[in-house]
Amino acid sequence: MLDDKLKQQIFLEIAMPICTREKVMLMHKFVQHGKTSCLEHSIAVAYNSFLMAEAMGTEYDRESLIRGGLLHDYFLYDWHKPHGRWHGFKHPAIALKNATRDFKLTEIEKNLIVRHMFPLVPIPPKNIEGGIVCMVDKWCSLKETFCSDIYKKDGMVQQIIKIVEIKLREEETRESTVNISQRHVVL
Ligand SMILES: [Fe+2]
Ligand SMILES: [Fe+2]
Repeated sequence: MLDDKLKQQIFLEIAMPICTREKVMLMHKFVQHGKTSCLEHSIAVAYNSFLMAEAMGTEYDRESLIRGGLLHDYFLYDWHKPHGRWHGFKHPAIALKNATRDFKLTEIEKNLIVRHMFPLVPIPPKNIEGGIVCMVDKWCSLKETFCSDIYKKDGMVQQIIKIVEIKLREEETRESTVNISQRHVVL
């Protein structure tokens, strides 16, 4: 049985390289539910799924569960805007298409992403990893919808989001510096 510190360390080792990828960081710019960004939601789903799998003591593919949990909503658009119609049905396939384009996925990760909306999408996940993420996703979504700022005091979500926000700010500064120097060239 892993102690809490080791669990946090394992999760961070697997999650950080994914969460700091440029396109994954974009998920922090889209609202998922209430005041929660899509990236905060995905970190919470992945971490709580990992904790649940460990508590169950079942055999599972740890890396696929965490990576799949982080990418299950990798659809990269604001679903509250008009083009987000039928989002509930369509986004698992869009997330899978984006994730397949940007990452080398295992079969467990692919199935977990495309089936996570069960029972809205009628076919259930094939593996224990997908079953756990599917359940934890519903629980997190419910909390995010009815409790505002739910992850404000969540150590794991905040630890990763702080680094992501620093990187996003650095990115914005770099972009505005490039724009200013390009304007000078034109002038
Ligand atoms: Fe989803
Ligand atoms: Fe989700």
